[in-house]
Amino acid sequence: GTVVVLAGGLSHEREVSLRSGRRVATALRETGHTVLEADVNGQLLSVLADADDPLVFPVLHGGAGEDGALREVLDVLGVSYIGSTGRASHIAFDKAVATPLVAAAGFATPRQAALPQDMFRELGAHALVEALASGIGFPMMVKPAQSGSSLGCTRVESADALPAAIVTAFGYGEVAIVEEFIEGREVAVSVVDLGDGPTALPAVEIEPVSGPYDYAARYTAGQTRFSAPADLPAAVADACADLAVQAHRILGLRDVSRTDLIIRDDTPYFLEVNVAPGMTDTSLLPLAIEASGVSFEEICSSLVAAARG
Ligand code: DAL
Ligand code: MG
Repeated sequence: GTVVVLAGGLSHEREVSLRSGRRVATALRETGHTVLEADVNGQLLSVLADADDPLVFPVLHGGAGEDGALREVLDVLGVSYIGSTGRASHIAFDKAVATPLVAAAGFATPRQAALPQDMFRELGAHALVEALASGIGFPMMVKPAQSGSSLGCTRVESADALPAAIVTAFGYGEVAIVEEFIEGREVAVSVVDLGDGPTALPAVEIEPVSGPYDYAARYTAGQTRFSAPADLPAAVADACADLAVQAHRILGLRDVSRTDLIIRDDTPYFLEVNVAPGMTDTSLLPLAIEASGVSFEEICSSLVAAARG
C-alpha cells in the first residue's frame, strides 16, 4: 500500500504543517514505506487516485485539516487514515467544547468563557468586559476557540486591553475564549496508541528563553528550552500522564494526540488537546518520542503498521 502524507492546506499554520509533513514523509520513506505527498489544495483526489490501497497520514494543522472536516471527507470516500475520526477531531479542536468535557471528568481546567462574535456585537464590549473581569479575573488569556500554534492568543492584564484582544482572536474564527491565566510550569504530554491502548510519552517542559511561548518561540530553533523528560516529582508526572491519557479517552481520540497543560501547586490544569500535533524539528511530540528511547521513524512506521492492522 501507499501512505499519502497530507500536509500544507489553507490554514494559518500552513508553513508549520509543510515542515511537519516533510519530516513524516522522510521518516516513512526511511523505514521502507511507499509515500506520496499531497497538499490539500486540490491535490488530494488526484494523489488518492494514483495511490495503491492508500492510507492517509494527515499532518494538517489548524482549519479544515484539524477540525475534522477533511477527515469526514475521507470517511465519506472510504479512505482509511491515521489519527482521530472527523467527529472526535471536531470536538477536540474546539476549546469551547473540549475543555468543559475534560472538566466534567474531574480534571482541573482554567475558568473559561466562550464568546461568539455575534454575542460580542449584540452586548457590546463594555458590558462584556465588566462581566468577564468579575467572572474570570486578570490576568486572562484570550484565544480563538479553534486555532493552534498560539496564533491569535493574547495575555490580558487589564480591562482596557480586553476588547482589542477579543477582536484579535476573532481574526482566527467566530468564537473567542476568555480564560483565567494559570501561572505555572508549562508542560506537554503526548499520547500514542499502537494498538494496545493509549500510552503517555514522557512529559516535555517548555521554557521560552524570553517572553511567552508564542509562534516565534515555537518555530525558531534556540528560542525555547525544552526538558524531555521534564524534571517533575513522580506523583506530578503521573498526574500529567493520567490527564493526557484520560483526555484522549474522554474525547474519543485515536492513535495520537498531545495534551498541553500548566502545573500549578502540583496540579496539572488542562489547556487543550491537539489531534494533529506538530512534527517539526522544534515540536513537542518528536521530542517526547526521542525521550522515550524510540526513534521518530519507528513511531511513524508503527502507526502505519497498526493502522494497516
Ligand atoms: N498546532 C501545532 C502544530 C501544535 O500543536 O504542535
Ligand atoms: Mg494547539
